[in-house]
Amino acid sequence: MADPKETIYDAEPHSRAKHHILREYLKRWLPILANQSRRLGLNDGRLLYVDGFAGAGEFTNNIPGSPLVAIETALTHSTNFHVPIQIKLIELRDDRVQHLRSLIAQHPARGQSGKIIIDDPIKGDCEQVIMQIIDEHEKTNRRVGPALFFLDQFGYSSFSMGLIHRILKHDVCEAFSYLNWNLLHPFMTDATKHTGISKAFGGDEWKAVIGLSGQEKEERFRDIYNPPRRRAANPMRPGTNTLPPPGP
Ligand SMILES: C[S@@+](CC[C@H](N)C(=O)[O-])C[C@H]1O[C@@H](n2cnc3c(N)ncnc32)[C@H](O)[C@@H]1O
Repeated sequence: MADPKETIYDAEPHSRAKHHILREYLKRWLPILANQSRRLGLNDGRLLYVDGFAGAGEFTNNIPGSPLVAIETALTHSTNFHVPIQIKLIELRDDRVQHLRSLIAQHPARGQSGKIIIDDPIKGDCEQVIMQIIDEHEKTNRRVGPALFFLDQFGYSSFSMGLIHRILKHDVCEAFSYLNWNLLHPFMTDATKHTGISKAFGGDEWKAVIGLSGQEKEERFRDIYNPPRRRAANPMRPGTNTLPPPGP
């Protein structure tokens, strides 16, 4: 969908589907990574969760947005993680940042120091802010991971494949990136959109699908986009998770 003018808007089925995937993924990612992080003495004792396109924090009819999905999944988890989860929220639009800030300020999690740390939402461009976060860690020789970056853009060109590569270069870092096929697909033959699509893909390889059709086109396109599948084909690419499997 295109960006609505309103600060908050109706949750579409695909938003709910993303929230479901995010919630179920976090339920497993949080205890596994917290356990490994403690066992291996990783980091200065925190898990990092970054929502790069945080939105206003809720949809109409009080449907929780992705920041609240993550916060509530962490808070209601039955496991004691032993390390806090640091939550960084990034949003470009000022009205949505303000709305998000007020939701966070009222949220009971504010008082629950220990399990989660919610940083003040950052107003800015996702890619720039994440690059800065990574720069700061590199300059001070601190690990970025364990970290999960949720990149839930509206269309397909709000961040580059370069951002994903930069994230995956760091150990124990993962990206959940969303790209809207329905918005992209009709524009594949429009040359004015090619720069944006190539930015999302990190090259022109995607153009090989223009002449294809149907399921073959979708699957080939997904294969070209999906960095883990590409890494699996070439395990020496950076970003391989170097941690051993979770302990008992
Ligand atoms: C699909 S919505 C996010 C919805 C949110 N993740 C949720 O599920 O509740 C995308 C959001 O990203 C914001 N946005 C657009 N471009 C951005 C950018 N370059 N950096 C950060 N946020 C951006 C939009 O204002 C919008 O709120």
